Amino acid sequence: MNMKLAVVCFLLFGASNTLVHSLDSFRAAVYEHNVTFPADRTKILPREEALQVMENNLAVYAQQAKLASDMEARIIVFPEYGLYGLGWTRQTLAPYLEYIPDPNVEMWNPCNKPSVYNSTEVQHMLSCIAKNNSVYIVANMGARQPCKISDPKCPVDHQYQYSTNVVYGPNGDFVARYFKFNLYSDEKQFDKPERVDLTTFDTPFGRFGTFSSLDIMYHDPAITLIQKMNITNIAYPTAWVDELPLLSAIEFHSAFAEGMHINLLAANLHLPCAAYHGSGLYWPTGTSIDGLYYYNDSLESNGSLVVGTFSPFIFPASNDTRTKALGAFSVKSEAISNKAVKVKINGDLFTAIMSRDSYGKLHVCQGSLCCDALFEGDFSSELFAFGAFDGMHTEGDRYYLQACVFIKCANNTPESCGSPTKVSSSYMSKMSFSGNFTTEFVFPEVLITENGVLGIVTKYWLYQNSVIIDVGLYGSPLSISILSRDYSRDN
Ligand SMILES: *[C@@H]1O[C@H](CO)[C@@H](O)[C@H](O)[C@H]1NC(C)=O
Ligand SMILES: *[C@@H]1O[C@H](CO)[C@@H](O)[C@H](O)[C@H]1NC(C)=O
Ligand SMILES: *[C@@H]1O[C@H](CO)[C@@H](O)[C@H](O)[C@H]1NC(C)=O
Ligand SMILES: *[C@@H]1O[C@H](CO)[C@@H](O)[C@H](O)[C@H]1NC(C)=O
Ligand SMILES: *[C@@H]1O[C@H](CO)[C@@H](O)[C@H](O)[C@H]1NC(C)=O
Ligand SMILES: *[C@@H]1O[C@H](CO)[C@@H](O)[C@H](O)[C@H]1NC(C)=O
Ligand SMILES: *[C@@H]1O[C@H](CO)[C@@H](O)[C@H](O)[C@H]1NC(C)=O
Ligand SMILES: *[C@@H]1O[C@H](CO)[C@@H](O)[C@H](O)[C@H]1NC(C)=O
Repeated sequence: MNMKLAVVCFLLFGASNTLVHSLDSFRAAVYEHNVTFPADRTKILPREEALQVMENNLAVYAQQAKLASDMEARIIVFPEYGLYGLGWTRQTLAPYLEYIPDPNVEMWNPCNKPSVYNSTEVQHMLSCIAKNNSVYIVANMGARQPCKISDPKCPVDHQYQYSTNVVYGPNGDFVARYFKFNLYSDEKQFDKPERVDLTTFDTPFGRFGTFSSLDIMYHDPAITLIQKMNITNIAYPTAWVDELPLLSAIEFHSAFAEGMHINLLAANLHLPCAAYHGSGLYWPTGTSIDGLYYYNDSLESNGSLVVGTFSPFIFPASNDTRTKALGAFSVKSEAISNKAVKVKINGDLFTAIMSRDSYGKLHVCQGSLCCDALFEGDFSSELFAFGAFDGMHTEGDRYYLQACVFIKCANNTPESCGSPTKVSSSYMSKMSFSGNFTTEFVFPEVLITENGVLGIVTKYWLYQNSVIIDVGLYGSPLSISILSRDYSRDN
């Protein structure tokens, strides 16, 4: 999730009856966009040239919105940074920004009334794309919001610069605005808003919230929106570096949808040379694949439209009924004699034990967290590590993480455990996996590979902190994990 890489790379390469059912099913789309950058991002361009760069990208948005609409999608989400790409300073980004009014104060339809505000061409075009195709559009753009010198926090250039999600209704109405709250450490071109926006919008097919990228890792606005604002969907523009083994985009975003019991519409940038890729529609059903997604890291790939159907939303019952009986496990040895070692995964030092067995019972602890697993499969003598982590995640961004992982060691040596790999030939028929996490925020991830192609599969909840996973359907396991966040310990 570090954005610097992209810059370098670009330069080089150019239910039960207690369940409540809501509304009808609806079709939705996300577009993973191969963004067109300006030729030189170190120059401060005149507005007309900056606009030309954004118009090139908007032309692709218009095509894709039409395609999505033709496929009966009622909403389409575009990625963060999709209009101008990455790698900015406060000054070089300035010509790309527009003043964005507060849609709660005054209703504005930019397509119908383009001259209400100066220099709002991008907003006109987005609004017209929505209206032309009768579809909700969610996009991310830059805002410049003037401030008064009397405001002690007002920057020297007399404007706040915010990374902003904008939402247009199918008649072109501007319906929602969100200023990004959790910025990456190298997003210096943007200001952090004083207060967090809890942005929602209502559609005939359900209530949505919206936030972007790194927001998904923190309590606000994400958790407050979900717990307090009665939303069933999140429109999520993102610029997410695919960080194996635990923070691949499709892996973590699907886990968030599952863990928070929410539909998530995640649109990522497509810059495979810098590992920005992985987009999808994820839902918390617990049946078949939990979502539709696009994952292609080939340098020749060009992004993609993903269109799918969300089923009527099922609100969680007070007692989770999505359980599945797996039958008894054959346990070879109760006591694991393996010595615990330290294994670095996504920068975090896990306490782990090694396993080559095709069935077993594993137990490992770190800090106040203990992880337990029972599993059966065919492991072709590949080496896996079973690990626990209870501490502050510090690589790239800081947040308090608890995690239990069962992970394929890259080249089957203990030293290679935790290094990214896309190769495995093992087969998991069933697994019961749990940890005694300190919070209810638990995100179950199952990343598999099939002929070198990554994928995500079914997960089943058993009860709050324990997950039964049936990955016997297809593919080989790369990492099966439960990430948990203790937001109260972030500081
Ligand atoms: C638009 O720009 C013109 C000329 O630069 C200026 O006179 C006018 O006040 C501006 N209007 C708004 C609404 O900002
Ligand atoms: C909207 O449709 C009109 C008529 O087909 C076309 O002229 C215009 O360019 C379209 N605008 C956008 C932003 O797609
Ligand atoms: C939450 O939203 C659903 C439909 O979106 C509605 O049926 C329900 O009454 C709402 N609940 C509250 C507390 O507003
Ligand atoms: C990825 O994209 C490349 C280039 O378009 C294509 O040849 C390949 O089949 C795609 N891979 C997958 C898994 O879709
Ligand atoms: C990639 O997508 C863009 C935008 O849709 C299109 O103009 C371009 O032709 C595509 N490239 C390839 C190789 O298909
Ligand atoms: C992605 O976009 C860049 C910039 O427009 C272009 O040079 C490149 O060919 C595109 N990739 C593909 C596969 O079309
Ligand atoms: C959930 O089910 C258990 C066992 O059936 C019961 O003891 C408990 O009270 C239930 N909890 C809620 C919140 O309904
Ligand atoms: C988790 O279980 C271990 C071992 O039983 C125990 O020492 C630890 O206190 C538990 N942690 C929590 C948060 O309950």
